Amino acid sequence: MNNDILKALLDAEDFVSGQELSQRFSVTRTTICNNIKELRKAGFVVESVTNKGYRIKENTRHINAALIQRYLKTQFLGRTIYETEETESTNTCLKEAWGEGCPNGALAVTHLQTAGKGRLGRVWKTERDSSAIMSYILMPEISPKDISAVTQVVGLAVCRALNRIFPSLNCEIKWPNDIICKKKKLCGILCEMSAELDRVNYIIPGIGINCDQKSFPEEIAFKATSIYMETGVFPDKNLIVAEILNETESILFSSGFAFDRKLISEYTMLCATIGRPVEFMRNGEKLCGTACGITGDGELIVELANHETHLINSGEVTVQGIY
Ligand code: BTN
Repeated sequence: MNNDILKALLDAEDFVSGQELSQRFSVTRTTICNNIKELRKAGFVVESVTNKGYRIKENTRHINAALIQRYLKTQFLGRTIYETEETESTNTCLKEAWGEGCPNGALAVTHLQTAGKGRLGRVWKTERDSSAIMSYILMPEISPKDISAVTQVVGLAVCRALNRIFPSLNCEIKWPNDIICKKKKLCGILCEMSAELDRVNYIIPGIGINCDQKSFPEEIAFKATSIYMETGVFPDKNLIVAEILNETESILFSSGFAFDRKLISEYTMLCATIGRPVEFMRNGEKLCGTACGITGDGELIVELANHETHLINSGEVTVQGIY
Protein backbone atom coordinates (compact mmCIF):
# COMPACT_ATOMS: atom_id res chain seq x y z
CA MET A 1 0.00 0.00 0.00
CA ASN A 2 1.24 3.47 -0.86
CA ASN A 3 1.28 5.43 2.39
CA ASP A 4 1.36 8.80 0.59
CA ILE A 5 -1.95 8.05 -1.11
CA LEU A 6 -3.42 6.97 2.22
CA LYS A 7 -2.14 10.13 3.93
CA ALA A 8 -3.58 12.33 1.16
CA LEU A 9 -6.99 10.71 1.63
CA LEU A 10 -6.77 10.97 5.42
CA ASP A 11 -5.84 14.68 5.19
CA ALA A 12 -8.55 15.53 2.67
CA GLU A 13 -11.79 16.93 4.02
CA ASP A 14 -13.75 15.89 0.96
CA PHE A 15 -13.50 13.60 -2.06
CA VAL A 16 -10.18 13.47 -3.92
CA SER A 17 -10.34 12.54 -7.57
CA GLY A 18 -8.38 9.62 -8.99
CA GLN A 19 -6.85 12.01 -11.53
CA GLU A 20 -5.58 14.36 -8.82
CA LEU A 21 -4.05 11.47 -6.88
CA SER A 22 -2.40 9.99 -9.95
CA GLN A 23 -0.92 13.38 -10.93
CA ARG A 24 0.21 14.23 -7.40
CA PHE A 25 2.04 10.94 -6.92
CA SER A 26 3.05 10.35 -10.57
CA VAL A 27 1.37 6.96 -10.74
CA THR A 28 -1.22 5.49 -13.11
CA ARG A 29 -4.96 5.44 -12.46
CA THR A 30 -4.67 1.63 -12.24
CA THR A 31 -2.18 2.02 -9.38
CA ILE A 32 -4.66 4.31 -7.61
CA CYS A 33 -7.45 1.73 -8.07
CA ASN A 34 -5.22 -1.03 -6.73
CA ASN A 35 -4.34 1.08 -3.71
CA ILE A 36 -7.99 1.73 -2.97
CA LYS A 37 -8.61 -2.04 -3.15
CA GLU A 38 -5.75 -2.60 -0.69
CA LEU A 39 -7.13 0.05 1.67
CA ARG A 40 -10.51 -1.68 1.66
CA LYS A 41 -8.83 -5.04 2.26
CA ALA A 42 -7.03 -3.49 5.24
CA GLY A 43 -10.38 -2.48 6.74
CA PHE A 44 -10.82 1.12 5.59
CA VAL A 45 -14.29 2.00 4.33
CA VAL A 46 -13.60 4.02 1.15
CA GLU A 47 -16.43 5.70 -0.72
CA SER A 48 -16.03 6.00 -4.46
CA VAL A 49 -18.34 8.36 -6.40
CA THR A 50 -18.25 8.97 -10.15
CA ASN A 51 -16.94 12.45 -11.05
CA LYS A 52 -15.96 13.08 -7.45
CA GLY A 53 -13.37 10.46 -6.56
CA TYR A 54 -12.56 8.76 -3.29
CA ARG A 55 -13.21 9.56 0.36
CA ILE A 56 -12.35 7.59 3.50
CA LYS A 57 -15.60 7.16 5.38
CA GLU A 58 -14.25 5.01 8.18
CA ASN A 59 -10.74 4.16 9.29
CA THR A 60 -9.58 0.61 9.87
CA ARG A 61 -9.34 -0.46 13.50
CA HIS A 62 -6.57 -2.89 12.61
CA ILE A 63 -2.91 -1.96 12.81
CA ASN A 64 -1.89 0.81 10.42
CA ALA A 65 1.25 2.92 10.82
CA ALA A 66 -0.24 6.10 9.30
CA LEU A 67 -3.13 5.99 11.79
CA ILE A 68 -0.81 5.33 14.75
CA GLN A 69 1.17 8.42 13.71
CA ARG A 70 -1.97 10.55 13.74
CA TYR A 71 -2.64 9.70 17.38
CA LEU A 72 0.96 10.11 18.58
CA LYS A 73 1.90 13.08 20.77
CA THR A 74 5.42 11.87 21.38
CA GLN A 75 8.78 13.37 20.50
CA PHE A 76 10.75 10.17 19.97
CA LEU A 77 8.67 7.08 20.74
CA GLY A 78 7.08 5.62 17.60
CA ARG A 79 8.51 8.28 15.30
CA THR A 80 9.91 5.43 13.16
CA ILE A 81 7.45 2.59 12.59
CA TYR A 82 8.15 -0.85 11.12
CA GLU A 83 4.80 -2.30 10.07
CA THR A 84 4.66 -5.85 8.72
CA GLU A 85 1.86 -8.11 7.49
CA GLU A 86 3.47 -10.88 9.50
CA THR A 87 6.68 -11.44 11.40
CA GLU A 88 8.09 -14.03 13.80
CA SER A 89 8.01 -11.65 16.73
CA THR A 90 8.00 -7.86 16.87
CA ASN A 91 10.69 -8.10 19.58
CA THR A 92 12.94 -10.06 17.19
CA CYS A 93 12.14 -7.63 14.39
CA LEU A 94 13.49 -4.75 16.51
CA LYS A 95 16.58 -6.69 17.59
CA GLU A 96 17.42 -7.05 13.89
CA ALA A 97 16.60 -3.39 13.26
CA TRP A 98 18.96 -2.43 16.12
CA GLY A 99 21.76 -4.33 14.35
CA GLU A 100 21.07 -2.18 11.31
CA GLY A 101 21.16 1.09 13.27
CA CYS A 102 17.47 1.85 13.88
CA PRO A 103 16.69 5.00 15.87
CA ASN A 104 15.91 5.16 19.59
CA GLY A 105 12.16 4.80 20.14
CA ALA A 106 11.44 2.86 16.92
CA LEU A 107 8.19 0.88 17.00
CA ALA A 108 7.42 -2.48 15.42
CA VAL A 109 3.81 -3.51 14.81
CA THR A 110 2.37 -6.43 12.91
CA HIS A 111 -0.88 -8.10 11.94
CA LEU A 112 0.36 -11.59 12.76
CA GLN A 113 3.20 -13.02 14.83
CA THR A 114 4.26 -16.48 13.71
CA ALA A 115 6.57 -17.17 16.67
CA GLY A 116 5.40 -14.79 19.40
CA LYS A 117 7.30 -15.07 22.68
CA GLY A 118 5.91 -14.95 26.19
CA ARG A 119 7.63 -14.59 29.58
CA LEU A 120 9.55 -17.50 31.11
CA GLY A 121 10.17 -19.08 27.67
CA ARG A 122 6.48 -19.53 26.91
CA VAL A 123 4.84 -19.19 23.51
CA TRP A 124 2.49 -16.23 22.84
CA LYS A 125 0.01 -17.21 20.18
CA THR A 126 -2.63 -14.94 18.64
CA GLU A 127 -4.78 -15.04 15.50
CA ARG A 128 -4.18 -12.51 12.71
CA ASP A 129 -5.49 -9.03 13.64
CA SER A 130 -7.02 -10.24 16.88
CA SER A 131 -4.59 -8.37 19.15
CA ALA A 132 -2.63 -5.15 19.31
CA ILE A 133 0.92 -6.47 18.88
CA MET A 134 3.70 -3.97 19.43
CA SER A 135 7.31 -3.60 20.54
CA TYR A 136 9.47 -0.51 20.86
CA ILE A 137 13.16 -0.01 21.46
CA LEU A 138 14.83 2.18 24.05
CA MET A 139 18.54 2.93 24.06
CA PRO A 140 19.21 4.88 27.25
CA GLU A 141 22.78 5.81 27.96
CA ILE A 142 22.75 4.41 31.48
CA SER A 143 24.01 1.46 33.43
CA PRO A 144 21.91 -1.76 33.67
CA LYS A 145 21.53 -1.24 37.44
CA ASP A 146 19.52 1.93 36.77
CA ILE A 147 16.77 0.17 34.84
CA SER A 148 15.88 -2.53 37.35
CA ALA A 149 12.18 -1.58 37.43
CA VAL A 150 11.76 -0.95 33.70
CA THR A 151 9.26 -3.78 33.28
CA GLN A 152 7.07 -2.35 36.04
CA VAL A 153 7.28 1.14 34.50
CA VAL A 154 6.23 -0.27 31.11
CA GLY A 155 3.33 -2.13 32.76
CA LEU A 156 2.21 1.03 34.52
CA ALA A 157 2.17 2.99 31.24
CA VAL A 158 0.08 0.27 29.55
CA CYS A 159 -2.36 0.14 32.46
CA ARG A 160 -2.74 3.94 32.42
CA ALA A 161 -3.32 3.99 28.66
CA LEU A 162 -5.96 1.24 28.72
CA ASN A 163 -7.81 2.84 31.62
CA ARG A 164 -7.72 6.22 29.89
CA ILE A 165 -9.28 4.83 26.69
CA PHE A 166 -11.68 2.39 28.40
CA PRO A 167 -12.35 3.60 31.95
CA SER A 168 -14.92 0.82 32.46
CA LEU A 169 -12.20 -1.83 32.15
CA ASN A 170 -10.66 -0.82 35.49
CA CYS A 171 -7.42 -2.54 34.50
CA GLU A 172 -5.05 -3.61 37.24
CA ILE A 173 -1.50 -4.92 37.24
CA LYS A 174 -0.55 -8.42 38.31
CA TRP A 175 3.07 -8.16 39.41
CA PRO A 176 5.38 -7.74 37.61
CA ASN A 177 3.51 -6.51 34.56
CA ASP A 178 0.52 -8.56 33.40
CA ILE A 179 -2.45 -6.29 32.81
CA ILE A 180 -5.61 -7.84 34.13
CA CYS A 181 -9.29 -7.05 34.03
CA LYS A 182 -11.65 -8.66 36.53
CA LYS A 183 -8.82 -11.04 37.53
CA LYS A 184 -8.27 -12.26 33.95
CA LYS A 185 -5.29 -11.48 31.74
CA LEU A 186 -5.89 -8.83 29.10
CA CYS A 187 -2.32 -8.06 28.13
CA GLY A 188 1.13 -9.62 28.43
CA ILE A 189 4.45 -7.81 28.36
CA LEU A 190 7.88 -9.24 27.62
CA CYS A 191 10.83 -6.90 28.21
CA GLU A 192 14.06 -8.06 26.61
CA MET A 193 17.37 -6.31 26.92
CA SER A 194 20.98 -6.40 25.85
CA ALA A 195 23.67 -4.82 28.00
CA GLU A 196 27.38 -4.69 28.76
CA LEU A 197 28.56 -4.57 32.38
CA ASP A 198 28.18 -0.81 32.60
CA ARG A 199 26.07 0.09 29.58
CA VAL A 200 22.66 -0.77 28.21
CA ASN A 201 22.59 -1.49 24.48
CA TYR A 202 18.83 -1.69 24.23
CA ILE A 203 15.63 -2.52 26.04
CA ILE A 204 12.75 -3.90 23.96
CA PRO A 205 9.38 -3.99 25.68
CA GLY A 206 7.00 -6.18 23.67
CA ILE A 207 3.30 -5.86 24.40
CA GLY A 208 0.36 -7.99 23.29
CA ILE A 209 -3.16 -6.75 24.11
CA ASN A 210 -6.11 -9.08 23.54
CA CYS A 211 -8.58 -6.99 21.57
CA ASP A 212 -11.06 -8.74 19.28
CA GLN A 213 -11.17 -12.30 20.69
CA LYS A 214 -14.71 -13.51 21.28
CA SER A 215 -13.51 -16.51 23.30
CA PHE A 216 -10.30 -18.35 24.19
CA PRO A 217 -9.27 -22.01 23.92
CA GLU A 218 -10.55 -24.11 26.82
CA GLU A 219 -7.09 -24.40 28.46
CA ILE A 220 -6.82 -20.65 29.01
CA ALA A 221 -10.48 -19.54 28.97
CA PHE A 222 -10.55 -19.33 32.79
CA LYS A 223 -7.68 -16.85 32.85
CA ALA A 224 -7.83 -14.80 29.63
CA THR A 225 -10.05 -11.99 28.46
CA SER A 226 -10.17 -9.41 25.66
CA ILE A 227 -11.38 -5.84 25.29
CA TYR A 228 -14.28 -7.08 23.14
CA MET A 229 -15.31 -9.63 25.77
CA GLU A 230 -15.28 -6.98 28.50
CA THR A 231 -16.85 -4.04 26.65
CA GLY A 232 -18.68 -5.44 23.60
CA VAL A 233 -16.61 -3.08 21.44
CA PHE A 234 -13.97 -3.97 18.85
CA PRO A 235 -11.34 -1.38 19.77
CA ASP A 236 -9.16 0.82 17.57
CA LYS A 237 -5.77 -0.88 17.93
CA ASN A 238 -3.97 2.16 16.55
CA LEU A 239 -5.29 4.39 19.31
CA ILE A 240 -4.22 1.79 21.88
CA VAL A 241 -0.67 1.54 20.51
CA ALA A 242 -0.31 5.34 20.29
CA GLU A 243 -1.70 5.97 23.79
CA ILE A 244 0.70 3.41 25.26
CA LEU A 245 3.60 5.26 23.66
CA ASN A 246 2.21 8.65 24.75
CA GLU A 247 1.95 7.47 28.37
CA THR A 248 5.36 5.78 28.29
CA GLU A 249 7.11 8.87 26.98
CA SER A 250 5.39 11.07 29.52
CA ILE A 251 6.70 8.81 32.33
CA LEU A 252 10.20 8.69 30.82
CA PHE A 253 10.33 12.48 30.46
CA SER A 254 9.23 13.09 34.06
CA SER A 255 11.02 10.26 35.91
CA GLY A 256 13.61 8.85 33.49
CA PHE A 257 14.01 5.16 34.26
CA ALA A 258 13.73 5.68 38.02
CA PHE A 259 10.84 3.94 39.75
CA ASP A 260 10.37 6.95 42.01
CA ARG A 261 7.98 7.42 44.96
CA LYS A 262 5.22 8.85 42.79
CA LEU A 263 5.35 5.92 40.38
CA ILE A 264 5.66 3.34 43.18
CA SER A 265 2.56 4.77 44.83
CA GLU A 266 0.55 4.73 41.56
CA TYR A 267 1.76 1.19 40.79
CA THR A 268 0.84 0.02 44.29
CA MET A 269 -2.70 1.40 43.91
CA LEU A 270 -3.12 -0.44 40.61
CA CYS A 271 -1.37 -3.67 41.62
CA ALA A 272 -3.85 -6.47 42.29
CA THR A 273 -1.09 -8.68 43.75
CA ILE A 274 -0.44 -6.42 46.73
CA GLY A 275 -2.54 -7.35 49.75
CA ARG A 276 -3.14 -10.91 48.54
CA PRO A 277 -1.73 -14.23 49.74
CA VAL A 278 1.05 -15.42 47.43
CA GLU A 279 3.22 -18.52 47.03
CA PHE A 280 6.75 -18.56 45.67
CA MET A 281 9.80 -20.84 45.59
CA ARG A 282 12.92 -20.02 47.60
CA ASN A 283 15.91 -22.43 47.59
CA GLY A 284 13.69 -25.28 46.42
CA GLU A 285 11.14 -24.64 49.15
CA LYS A 286 7.60 -23.36 48.62
CA LEU A 287 6.91 -20.33 50.81
CA CYS A 288 3.55 -18.65 51.47
CA GLY A 289 3.02 -15.09 52.61
CA THR A 290 1.20 -11.87 51.83
CA ALA A 291 2.39 -9.44 49.14
CA CYS A 292 2.67 -6.14 50.93
CA GLY A 293 4.55 -3.74 48.69
CA ILE A 294 7.02 -3.03 45.95
CA THR A 295 10.57 -1.68 46.13
CA GLY A 296 12.24 0.99 44.01
CA ASP A 297 13.88 -1.85 42.07
CA GLY A 298 10.48 -3.30 41.22
CA GLU A 299 10.78 -6.24 43.63
CA LEU A 300 7.67 -7.61 45.29
CA ILE A 301 7.84 -7.49 49.09
CA VAL A 302 6.28 -10.57 50.69
CA GLU A 303 5.74 -10.96 54.42
CA LEU A 304 5.52 -14.50 55.81
CA ALA A 305 3.37 -15.49 58.81
CA ASN A 306 6.51 -15.32 61.02
CA HIS A 307 6.96 -11.65 59.90
CA GLU A 308 10.07 -12.48 57.88
CA THR A 309 10.11 -10.43 54.65
CA HIS A 310 11.34 -11.65 51.27
CA LEU A 311 12.02 -9.71 48.10
CA ILE A 312 11.05 -11.38 44.85
CA ASN A 313 12.57 -10.06 41.67
CA SER A 314 11.72 -12.56 38.99
CA GLY A 315 10.15 -15.89 38.25
CA GLU A 316 6.71 -17.11 39.01
CA VAL A 317 4.55 -16.08 41.91
CA THR A 318 1.18 -17.72 42.46
CA VAL A 319 -1.38 -15.19 43.62
CA GLN A 320 -4.46 -16.47 45.42
CA GLY A 321 -7.67 -15.27 43.79
CA ILE A 322 -6.03 -14.41 40.43
CA TYR A 323 -5.10 -17.03 37.77
C1 BTN B 1 3.66 -12.87 28.68
O1 BTN B 1 2.69 -12.51 29.33
O2 BTN B 1 4.11 -14.02 28.78
C2 BTN B 1 4.31 -11.89 27.74
C3 BTN B 1 3.68 -11.87 26.39
C4 BTN B 1 4.30 -10.83 25.48
C5 BTN B 1 3.74 -10.87 24.08
C6 BTN B 1 4.24 -9.73 23.26
S1 BTN B 1 3.40 -9.60 21.73
C7 BTN B 1 4.55 -8.43 21.15
C8 BTN B 1 5.91 -8.91 21.62
N1 BTN B 1 6.47 -9.86 20.70
C9 BTN B 1 6.63 -11.07 21.25
O3 BTN B 1 7.10 -12.05 20.67
N2 BTN B 1 6.19 -11.05 22.51
C10 BTN B 1 5.72 -9.74 22.90
